[in-house]
Amino acid sequence: MCGIVGYIGERQATEVCLAGLKRLEYRGYDSAGIAVVQDDGTLEVTKVVGKLANLAQALEEQPVDGTLGVGHTRWATHGKPSKINSHPHTSNDGRIALVHNGIIENYAELRDQLTEEGFEFVSETDTEVIVHLVDKYYDGDLAEAFRMAARDLEGAFAVGIVCADNPDQMVAARRFSPLVVGIGEGENFIASDMGAVREWTDQVYVIDDDEMAVITRDSIELTDLEGNPVEREPYTIPWPADAAQKGGHKHFMHKEIHEQPRAMRECLLGRLSDPEKSINLEGLNMSEQEIQSLRKVVFTACGTAYHAGLVGRFLMEKLARIPSEADLAAELRARDPVVLDGTLAIVVSQSGETADTLVALRELKEKGAKVVSVVNVVDSSIARESDGVVYIQAGPEIGVASTKAYTLQILTIALIVAHFADVRGAASEHELIELRRAMLKLPEQAQELLEREEDVKRVAEKYYESPNALYLGRGVNLPSAMEGALKLKEISYIHAEGYSAGEMKHGPIALVEPNLFTVAIAVKGDVYDKMIGNIQEIKARSGPVIGVAFDGDTEIPRQADDVLWVPECPELVSPVTTAIPLQLLSYHIADMLGREIDQPRNLAKTVTVE
Ligand code: M6R
Repeated sequence: MCGIVGYIGERQATEVCLAGLKRLEYRGYDSAGIAVVQDDGTLEVTKVVGKLANLAQALEEQPVDGTLGVGHTRWATHGKPSKINSHPHTSNDGRIALVHNGIIENYAELRDQLTEEGFEFVSETDTEVIVHLVDKYYDGDLAEAFRMAARDLEGAFAVGIVCADNPDQMVAARRFSPLVVGIGEGENFIASDMGAVREWTDQVYVIDDDEMAVITRDSIELTDLEGNPVEREPYTIPWPADAAQKGGHKHFMHKEIHEQPRAMRECLLGRLSDPEKSINLEGLNMSEQEIQSLRKVVFTACGTAYHAGLVGRFLMEKLARIPSEADLAAELRARDPVVLDGTLAIVVSQSGETADTLVALRELKEKGAKVVSVVNVVDSSIARESDGVVYIQAGPEIGVASTKAYTLQILTIALIVAHFADVRGAASEHELIELRRAMLKLPEQAQELLEREEDVKRVAEKYYESPNALYLGRGVNLPSAMEGALKLKEISYIHAEGYSAGEMKHGPIALVEPNLFTVAIAVKGDVYDKMIGNIQEIKARSGPVIGVAFDGDTEIPRQADDVLWVPECPELVSPVTTAIPLQLLSYHIADMLGREIDQPRNLAKTVTVE
């Protein structure tokens, strides 16, 4: 769950590593460090507790010269955030330095063994065993030493290693944790993801499990962990170098909320252009016969992506008439799920690297399910391990709070559902045309919603000091309530519950009082009247209510204290539009509270540990 970067070339390694780490800070930010092989053949390590700014300052105070180095930004798993626990970790003689993302499961046993053999441990981390193992096997050949070390390791790793003895070589390897090698001219890079190297190159090798790279300034040799050569075509990063910049916005989250109309257009491009025509989903990799013989669909994911999966479950049953369920990925394996013949697993993930989701994918696949993933990061682990993948095409999402990925996940899933409904004849031609028309209108409606940002800000001003919030929804908008609450709590730290409005009277209504505000998603549709009833129940108990309603609704302004208006659309696609004012509401509340919006406390963008 950390970020790693490495550089070998002609530039100052500290500058490149710092810039690359900045792009990876979303992966963790409780401590950071850099190791550089200096021009005089010594290894210099700089580590700090806290964010990268502290590392930049330390390097400014004590500059380090050298054109080969590895850097790390950490999210603690083993051992608290401290200077000693932060990476890079070094061999006892201080000549080998290593950065690591992942978890070594047998580290305790290895630590005992290595201690007995005379290696001295200074940190509480699992990572330190790797560097001592490499040192143990090192006999002048760093790559060979790592190969031998890898045989002893159980668990996940992406590592970058440098050695003071060899100022012209960097070694990198992967098992389960993401790793790319950036291809330059007279310089090369390693990183946990492509975004970290995009400033310097658009060509990368995506490293697979149990593969490694031996990198010099002018060459990159890919092998498996046995040393057998690996042939790989470079991958061209499809977005421009400035895509990961804030572009005038105060926070990445704000920029990403505003990117939704464009991202939606790109997601629809080539898939749906005319409501009268069928949807084209390249990458789905399912024949019409396979779609017709489906007996069950299981959505699995974590966090925001799980909420998109809940919308998916609703749409899949309602429109495509296929029995469906949605499972939290972290819970799926525990109950040893029964997977029937004809089961399709739809795995949803922005990063494509979430460990719980990857484990759930493997479980379902092993039990015979066909796996299609709905993923943002191209060529990520989840994408590669799936039988089919439909990319959401949202572009890089840097803010820890997922925004554009959520609406694009729902849109992508809706495309899949509409395609299934078409192929299975589950919906009438008229229904399908109306649904496709509604999807095509979403980018424009998202734009309209963004133009109403000032209205949302005014509502935020009224409620930002409340200590508690309740988000209520029903039907297809129950996940919208859950997502609205998650967005608020993760960036503002206000306690928020996302709840079924129907369940409210079975417990949560006890919480209602003037200091708790309720957001009620009450767009016109099947559950509208019931939502009005729920709003009245809250008002009767002196709870302030913010309604989310379709433009032109005359009832909700009479019942609620404030209204967030959304353009009218069929209820089934409304989770895409209702999400946007709720993202903006959380954003402005958190901003008014002065929170660190792009890097909320205790969180990391990509959770690569179970
Ligand atoms: O990369 P993924 O979509 O697999 O990530 C899943 C969750 O960790 C993620 O959605 C998380 O809940 C976000 N911080 C929510 O904003």
